Amino acid sequence: MSSKKSLAAQLHSDAVSFTPGGVHSNVRLERATAFFARGKGAWLWDVEGNDYVDYLLGQGPNFLGHAPEAVTEAVADACRRGMVYGAQHELEVEAGRSFLSAVAWADQVRFGLSGTEMVQAALRLARAVTGRKKFIRFEGHYHGWLDNVLLAPQADGTPGPASAGQLSSHLEDCVILPWNDENALAHALEEHAGQVAAVITEPFMCNSGAVSPRDGYLQRMRQLCDEHEAVLIFDEVITGFRVAFGGAAERFGVTPDLATYGKAMAGGWPVAALAGRAELMQRFADDVSHAGTFNASVMACAAVVATLEELRSDPPYARVEAHGEEVMAGIRKLADDHEVPLRVQGLGMSFHASFGPKDRVFDFQGLQALDLQRYNALAQRLTEFGVWVAGRGIWYVSAAHGDREATVVLERLDAALRAWHG
Ligand SMILES: Cc1ncc(COP(=O)(O)O)c(C=O)c1O
Repeated sequence: MSSKKSLAAQLHSDAVSFTPGGVHSNVRLERATAFFARGKGAWLWDVEGNDYVDYLLGQGPNFLGHAPEAVTEAVADACRRGMVYGAQHELEVEAGRSFLSAVAWADQVRFGLSGTEMVQAALRLARAVTGRKKFIRFEGHYHGWLDNVLLAPQADGTPGPASAGQLSSHLEDCVILPWNDENALAHALEEHAGQVAAVITEPFMCNSGAVSPRDGYLQRMRQLCDEHEAVLIFDEVITGFRVAFGGAAERFGVTPDLATYGKAMAGGWPVAALAGRAELMQRFADDVSHAGTFNASVMACAAVVATLEELRSDPPYARVEAHGEEVMAGIRKLADDHEVPLRVQGLGMSFHASFGPKDRVFDFQGLQALDLQRYNALAQRLTEFGVWVAGRGIWYVSAAHGDREATVVLERLDAALRAWHG
């Protein structure tokens, strides 16, 4: 073992003594031994100096690539004048204006720190506005790690609590449906008529399989919510500013009542948002509580303004999509060359890889036919070949990915598959 290698091993052994599992988010437990020293553009370097072409992008936030100059400069410059005032400042008005000019359907926005908390704010607001308790959500969708939204398949295959300490009673007010099935939604809204405050959905099922909505599905969801006077919430924490500047609402042409954002909106800074129609959002100025010491900090607002300015002045969407499609096509070709059932689907900016039948998956059930564990083993192996991807199959593309990265990632995947017998 080289002395540099022992640095990662040493850091890991220190980390596990200071921190449970050596990580600060359970999502990272699988790669607890990975320690990076820096990131720039589409690349990461570990503490041993090895490079990785990065298609995980910190689980999404680095849509402009790591450490985008315009954003890091803007944040550093702004925070020299103070960071958190416990009061308002000019940049937050600018950030709000800029955000709403991108998310054009929404009238108002509140900033926060994480997607998890914005989802909770959205659900609380929907309940306040409707005076109802239940909400409808979908299998395979992720809405954060808190008790009322965290799900995992139970022994019998049905969804239930995902964590020790999470009670099944925490999930009592949610109705869990298969996604991309308008009849299931129509039926549930009838069955629970007058009780459903909100329908919350990932508009593109990114967290499970990168599944697009079937034609007309989101439109029908909109219509059904109107008929049943339920609030339609798009969870755009992944899709916002990624699948289009105006997120999934713009890309799929369907307007929710509320939507949550995070990740791509701030060039890597921890910022999230809840946006929506004024009629609903105004309740935060009245009787619905939403708070947070660090909400709309100087850094957060500087990051939002600079990121959105980058995305507005030089929209990367066509490039990012083309890059992702090129990589997806390259993965399919390598799968054929190596005679492995490696399959990909999704959008260029965010797609999903796994082992299994080539047919497109349209729902969470379809995902059960895929061999996600086998793919996870390949993803772990890819790390040794200098490709950083998530074990759960999702690939994220950034504005910093170009021809060089497309060539390198396919060369490295080729080498990994050559050496792989999983
Ligand atoms: C769709 C969706 N909603 C909510 C969240 C939670 O966001 P955060 O991790 O910022 O709390 C995530 C995180 O991946 C997400 O993908």
